[in-house]
Amino acid sequence: MLSLTRRRNSLYLLAGLIFTFVFLSYRNLPRDALLRPGTKQPPSPPGSRWSLHKPHHPIPPSSLHRLPTTPPLSLPRIQKHPFPPESPTELGNRLIRQQRVKDTFLRCWSSYRSHAWLSDELRPVSGGKRNPFGGWGATLVDSLDTLWIMGLRAEFNEAVEALGNISFDSTRLREVSVFETNIRYLGGFLAAYDLSGDERLLAKAKEVGEMLYAAFDTPNRMPVTRWDLNGAARGRRQMAGEHVLLAELGTFGLEFTRLSMVTGEMKWFDAAQRITGALRRVQNETQLPGMWPVVVDARGMKFGAHGDHTLGAMADSWFEYLPKMYALVGGLLPEYKEMYEVAMSTAIRHNLFRPMVPGDADILMAGLVHAKTSDGQTRTSLRPEGQHLVCFAGGLLALGGRLIEKQLHVDKGEKITDGCVWAYKAMPLGIMPETFYVVPCESILECKWDEKKWVQAVMELGSSGEDKLSFEKAKQLIDYKRLPKGFTAIPDTRYHLRPEAIESVFVLYRITGRKDLMESAWDMFQAIDSHTRTELANSALMDVTVTDEAVTLSDTMESFWLGETLKYFYLMFSEPDLISLDEYVFNTEAHPLQRLLP
Ligand SMILES: *[C@@H]1O[C@H](CO)[C@@H](O)[C@H](O)[C@H]1NC(C)=O
Ligand SMILES: *[C@@H]1O[C@H](CO)[C@@H](O)[C@H](O)[C@H]1NC(C)=O
Repeated sequence: MLSLTRRRNSLYLLAGLIFTFVFLSYRNLPRDALLRPGTKQPPSPPGSRWSLHKPHHPIPPSSLHRLPTTPPLSLPRIQKHPFPPESPTELGNRLIRQQRVKDTFLRCWSSYRSHAWLSDELRPVSGGKRNPFGGWGATLVDSLDTLWIMGLRAEFNEAVEALGNISFDSTRLREVSVFETNIRYLGGFLAAYDLSGDERLLAKAKEVGEMLYAAFDTPNRMPVTRWDLNGAARGRRQMAGEHVLLAELGTFGLEFTRLSMVTGEMKWFDAAQRITGALRRVQNETQLPGMWPVVVDARGMKFGAHGDHTLGAMADSWFEYLPKMYALVGGLLPEYKEMYEVAMSTAIRHNLFRPMVPGDADILMAGLVHAKTSDGQTRTSLRPEGQHLVCFAGGLLALGGRLIEKQLHVDKGEKITDGCVWAYKAMPLGIMPETFYVVPCESILECKWDEKKWVQAVMELGSSGEDKLSFEKAKQLIDYKRLPKGFTAIPDTRYHLRPEAIESVFVLYRITGRKDLMESAWDMFQAIDSHTRTELANSALMDVTVTDEAVTLSDTMESFWLGETLKYFYLMFSEPDLISLDEYVFNTEAHPLQRLLP
């Protein structure tokens, strides 16, 4: 009996070992593929025209950039370790909150499924649909990894099945955004593949990858960013644009590199690397040396002429991908670390400022710098603007600071994140507006609230040329525009269901374990969910300066609400090892990609 049992046990053990081995080698395939390029090339799905696309400007194989094949480095730990323990009450609260986020997600998902299935977006008030992203089911693709992370396997499987009915061969749009297609669709497929290992997702990622690659078929191999896809499919010749947004030119690294890692085909990595090389060459020769301007000339390959420099809208994810690329490839591409470090020391010196706020909170914001350099002299002026979009910079600096072991960056990232939390709390609905202005402090070290100075700043901003505003009129303007103390103007009062603030709160929480961040996150979630909720789902808001009764819904729900905002809220209330920052990097659409680890 005994020996039989034991033999059976060892048989189980053997079967277990074989299973584990097969399973592990299966999960490890991406890494193997990286080390031995060309070992794993899934067939292109039938009906995808892009794999047959003939380029006008092919890359000779001899000049193809290839991923390094040396073993990855062991990079510094990013998440706090050990993570602070929680009491039974804290645990209970956390799980209730997490369930609430999941309930909100499921409500939106079900409405999308019944009213707008395979369309890009659901209209959350009227129940209609919208197709601004090619009409390839943006919400469905953006939600795949969130479904997986939330453990919604039946919904995930149904969504993956439905991908068979999405074809990237054509679009009804005259022009598609190559940037949005890359971060939402390619990022979405790759992350869902990394999490589930489902080969159908890899096939879909390749299909989108082949399509996007055709946008790079220009004489200088810089991509067309607003792209006539149907024209390209017919073989039309194309050139890169002369006025291109930095983010739209420079946000391919993570997705294209991961696609090369999992397929073993280097052409995508090569395409992204050519852009990086071109931008790297001019990093110290721009109007604000160390940073790149918002607008660049991708046709003439002139990247330093324009004067406006920001970490915010239209530039953001180029900066975001610098440390994340370094992390993705296990530190094997040190140029990204160097570019990150140089860019951030410039941004910290010029773009970050402390706003004057009631209560004198020690917070930071990242503004826009206009710069002009001549004869080695750089003259700058700061626009003290806050943006919801630039809130990602808190997480960027904290993550980058951990990666290169620079505590200064982590501290700055923490204060930017606290600034975003402040802006949420300062508004009547508890939700930050899209853009606003504040009064910059003269010193970052000390800054006392001065109400008169604030009204004067409103006065100056409200005056134009000869038309000067009086102090009294400025006070009336404050009432009329419903400006909370500290805000001097709110040019864009909307809230688009954006993720950047909770993104940074999440990253900072995983890095520091600060418990107050979890409370802030919960306040943010409750404010957003309650004010944006419709019969069907959640809707963007027209104006966050009003009180509850006057809220107007704009009847839009971008795919990032399910793909990013609710994912970050969910992860905020999860165990810290669910999608650990030590194993994954998030693309700019919150799609987690597996890092190369030693
Ligand atoms: C694809 O579309 C066809 C026709 O509309 C439909 O019958 C089929 O169920 C769809 N398949 C999936 C997986 O959604
Ligand atoms: C730019 O200047 C910094 C020093 O300020 C230097 O470390 C970096 O290597 C330079 N970058 C390039 C591409 O020359």
